[in-house]
Amino acid sequence: MALMDKHAVLERNATLLLVASFAVVTVGGIVEIAPLFYLENTIEKVDGMRPYSPLELAGRDVYIREGCYTCHSQMIRPFRDEVERYGHYSLAAESMYDHPFQWGSKRTGPDLARVGDRYSNEWHVQHLIEPRSVVPESIMPSYAFLKDTPIRVEDFSTHLIANQRVGVPYTEEMVANAEADLTAQADPNGDWDALLARYPKAKVGDFDGNPQALTEMDALIAYLQMLGTLVDFSTYDEAAGYR
Ligand code: HEC
Repeated sequence: MALMDKHAVLERNATLLLVASFAVVTVGGIVEIAPLFYLENTIEKVDGMRPYSPLELAGRDVYIREGCYTCHSQMIRPFRDEVERYGHYSLAAESMYDHPFQWGSKRTGPDLARVGDRYSNEWHVQHLIEPRSVVPESIMPSYAFLKDTPIRVEDFSTHLIANQRVGVPYTEEMVANAEADLTAQADPNGDWDALLARYPKAKVGDFDGNPQALTEMDALIAYLQMLGTLVDFSTYDEAAGYR
């Protein structure tokens, strides 16, 4: 009873209640946040993750500019229904080079975290030009103009440098070859060896069905076809991931 009486003092004095609430929240906050500063790493190391190739990065820029994230998430939660539909749940490491990350918070359309390799390039071209030509009930908007919009190759290395500044480990070699890599990846007759050494598993060749032009459609499809394909889950050690 005595304790309740003391509490009544708090409840009847707005200023005191405010100060006391603030103190409680501060202690709670410190307990939750402070340990994070003493962890060496909050993201487990996972084999296969690498910075995006210049073409993928250009595609990612289109993805963000067009607001694809307003309808699509890139974050598979560790629930059975999601894992059965989309594949292995997303790892923190899989978005470690995303600035900003594309987890999203709305699924008007399906999650895209592992859409890479699920469809052919032709399917993506058709779907982006006119979604209803391949999925009759689709409400996704058309993005046909991407096929006629060239990518600005000039000075593309500045995109890599900007990412480098926020911690993405692009090497000087990657920056120096950014423009060459950007064009080579979508060139059906390109010399891909150096590109693939820098960006293993990158998809190469013409993406948009028009080998003559380097378009935003090429870039977006190169990006989509890479999503979720970098980590090899047949060799991923689940237990080590939690350690
Ligand atoms: C207004 C909401 C909306 C926006 C914006 C949108 N989509 Fe979609 N998207 C959908 C819906 C709904 C579907 C499911 C029907 C279909 O396949 O068209 C879908 C399906 C997809 C699929 C097939 C996924 C699968 O697993 O079958 C891809 C790939 C895709 N969208 C990419 C994009 C890209 C890239 C953008 C941005 C350029 C985008 N979407 C913008 C609503 C949207």
